[in-house]
Amino acid sequence: MKTRCWKYRLLTSLSLAAALLLRAHPAPSLPSTGGDFPLSLQTPGKVPERIILGFVSDPARSLAVTWRTSLAVETPRAEIAPAGPTADFQKDARSVPAATSKLDLAKGANAYHYRAIFEGLSPETTYAYRVGDGAVWSEWSHFRTASAASKPFRFLALGDAQDGLKSLWSRAVRGAYAHAPDARFILSVGDITSDGWDDARWSEFAYALGFIGTTMPFLATPGNHDLHRPPTDPEKGTVVGVQPTWRAHLTAPGNGPKGFETLRDTVWSLDYQGVRFLSLEANVYAEENFSESVKKLLYDAQPAWLEEQLKNNPNRWTVVIMHNPLYMVAKAVDFEELRKVFLPIFDRYHVDLVLAGHNHRYGRTPKLAGGRIVDPKAPGTVYTIMTSGPKTHVKNPQFDDLMAVTLDASQMYQVVDVGPDRLRYESWDVVGTLVDSFELRKDGAGRTEYASPGRPAAGK
Ligand SMILES: [Fe+2]
Repeated sequence: MKTRCWKYRLLTSLSLAAALLLRAHPAPSLPSTGGDFPLSLQTPGKVPERIILGFVSDPARSLAVTWRTSLAVETPRAEIAPAGPTADFQKDARSVPAATSKLDLAKGANAYHYRAIFEGLSPETTYAYRVGDGAVWSEWSHFRTASAASKPFRFLALGDAQDGLKSLWSRAVRGAYAHAPDARFILSVGDITSDGWDDARWSEFAYALGFIGTTMPFLATPGNHDLHRPPTDPEKGTVVGVQPTWRAHLTAPGNGPKGFETLRDTVWSLDYQGVRFLSLEANVYAEENFSESVKKLLYDAQPAWLEEQLKNNPNRWTVVIMHNPLYMVAKAVDFEELRKVFLPIFDRYHVDLVLAGHNHRYGRTPKLAGGRIVDPKAPGTVYTIMTSGPKTHVKNPQFDDLMAVTLDASQMYQVVDVGPDRLRYESWDVVGTLVDSFELRKDGAGRTEYASPGRPAAGK
């Protein structure tokens, strides 16, 4: 017993001495062995963060990932391999170099953003990937490529986030993920933050999104707030095109009208397992202060591009996303110009579903054509106006007669299931109540039939 006490005292003394020595001489930065150290021991500022997946072109064979560090790294790269149940999958990993962009955060601070593009992937395959610089790595995350053919899948759709991103929007995006972790991607109709230029807002967005962005691609069309430039910018409010912050975090297919580099993140087309998704720049038709030259260019180019996309569409379904809706349910505002430009095109090509936001309230029409409710079996389009953040606006009853459902500003998310013959849309609030749903059934000739459970319109 005496011997044990003596040994115990000696060990305690040695431990205390070591602790004092370490305090006086902090440990030098440790060489990394590939991300196995606890985060607290990794080199500060070089740990990848804000990791977000996005689509570039063919979702069956390619995908992009963006991330950032607060200190520049010399050899930014990703590694990717088909995922396997044991850790052995790592031996098949290949390295993919990443492009770097520097973001000026003002007051002398910078962030370094990276984008790696995975190409040559196999359809319907689960991959594991990580990002880093060869020494400090992220954890391995999984994603699954799309099928090259038309095949049932589900996606999540979110209305404006905009405010309270960390404190409140988090429950919408996390609720959506928890509800449908098998959804293939998240689609946002814009106003992701209240000030697109401000990295502090993007930090909240990335915090709320968390690991979801590492495994589920995030795809968005920009809203008016996403175009906001710093208050000192002389072009503030007159030009379209997202801010560098948007491009640093998100990826878009970039296949819009030729010659419009500023719109590469805004106007795009993506085919996913039998659905053509089309993103439109709608802000310019709704806001007064864009320059006339910008308006003229867009008025000529965008409808022509849209028609091409709809005319040559081999997919069974077409879904349009745009920030501003054709029919407002909040504020005393009417975007007549949007209807003038797009309604005839949506009608002519029988666009199935148009997802929009901007209202900070919820509204959803039955099938419409020519600005009127039509028979469930007649050609037509369903329009939705979604919201996911906490902000609210007062009700606008102008289009109540066209709405199947209008709701207040509950925070919500949408789950959409699409197969060759059926599209089912559900809207859920963040405490788990199904607040709206409908289905479109499609026959062999491409004709749809609209069906709704007949929920009475609320809030009228
Ligand atoms: Fe908006």
